[in-house]
Amino acid sequence: SPQVAYQDDALQVEGVALADLARRHGTPLFVYSKASMLEALAAYQRGFAGRKVKICYALKANSSLAILQTFARAGCGFDIVSGGELERVLAVGVRGADIIFSGVGKTRAEMRRALEAGIGCFNVESEAELEVLSEVASAAGKTAAISLRVNPNVDPKTHPYISTGLKGNKFGIAHERALEVYRRARELPGLRVAGIDCHIGSQITEVAPYLDAMDRILDLVAQIEAAGMPLAHIDFGGGLGISYNGEQPPAADALWQQLLARLDARGYGERQFMIEPGRSLVGNAGVCVSEVLYLKPGEAKNFCVIDAAMNDLPRPAMYQAFHAIVPVARGGGEPAHYDVVGPVCESGDWIGRDRSLAVRPGDLLAVLSAGAYCMSMASNYNTRGRAAEVLVDGGESFLIREREDVADQLRKEKLLP
Ligand code: LLP
Repeated sequence: SPQVAYQDDALQVEGVALADLARRHGTPLFVYSKASMLEALAAYQRGFAGRKVKICYALKANSSLAILQTFARAGCGFDIVSGGELERVLAVGVRGADIIFSGVGKTRAEMRRALEAGIGCFNVESEAELEVLSEVASAAGKTAAISLRVNPNVDPKTHPYISTGLKGNKFGIAHERALEVYRRARELPGLRVAGIDCHIGSQITEVAPYLDAMDRILDLVAQIEAAGMPLAHIDFGGGLGISYNGEQPPAADALWQQLLARLDARGYGERQFMIEPGRSLVGNAGVCVSEVLYLKPGEAKNFCVIDAAMNDLPRPAMYQAFHAIVPVARGGGEPAHYDVVGPVCESGDWIGRDRSLAVRPGDLLAVLSAGAYCMSMASNYNTRGRAAEVLVDGGESFLIREREDVADQLRKEKLLP
């Protein structure tokens, strides 16, 4: 993101030096650019100008309250997947009507709380969930607005990035079953059919799978409406990728220009749309600043041990994901090749492999593209406290999450008598 840039060899976020922030708040430290988030959102908003579209930020990507506030103030709705995420969104003052609820394992208690909050729509992922939701809603004297999350089963061979919209994974309702399940939904007393939903995967860097999925979904919309069930909205999920290592995903506005043209051609241009982007709104708006603890030269490899670990940055360990790692102060001595690793007691605790870096102990490194699926996936493994977070807005920086201390971690535990 252009908001993360060097000035005189010192890495800055919106002009605020990361070295200063690290000195003030310690490391590991997540730093986010508000302008970068709003710019990413603006690309969607440009693409949707003059259209009826609700952008529901998928907060699993980064659910920190100040981030939610930023998107709420910019006019977003929210896509939640748990009762916990619901409480986060409500805590920043969002109306229930601006929230949609996805996820394969909603509990009765979560459904009740969401109904009480006046949730906009439940994206239902199975026939069993449909029955339970109707029961819960009826018992509460409410009617739940629902979409079915349909699995478009887009061909995996041509589009290897797609992982959640295929047959054989746990998400969604099979395309072939959808019409029948909609008929069942219509009969159930606690439900009102509101729309249709799909989500084909994450970190998608091509347009084609979206176009294929859209065609499949629109075929279904036509069938469902021909069977007498009007769908007020169509939700296309999230999934647009970002550049971690030179990938070139389509820009949000360019992607939607193509998708909207397809929608218009098929006569659905006037419909209410929803989307659920996560990563593409926050991923490149954040960095994680970490201090080099030790350099450990070896016969086969050199290791650079930093104070951030897989509990802070789980994506490399979990998905072998690539995050760029750059010095906070550029222009140190001769570079060498290192595996950048954390202090956690696991061989899987690596952050970057075979990286060329000129570093000494005490130097600061920035792990880039760390705005999405890092802090929200952080854990306390090895009894490590979760990192602090700072949001930069223009020249100002705000501590939006204090570093977790050991007392925070021990608070809920009980000694045996
Ligand atoms: N809607 C639904 C129903 C989803 O399951 C997801 C992500 C999204 C929206 C948002 O997708 P996005 O725009 O962020 O791609 N932890 C993994 C990513 C998991 C994505 C899960 N679902 C990672 O770090 O790559």
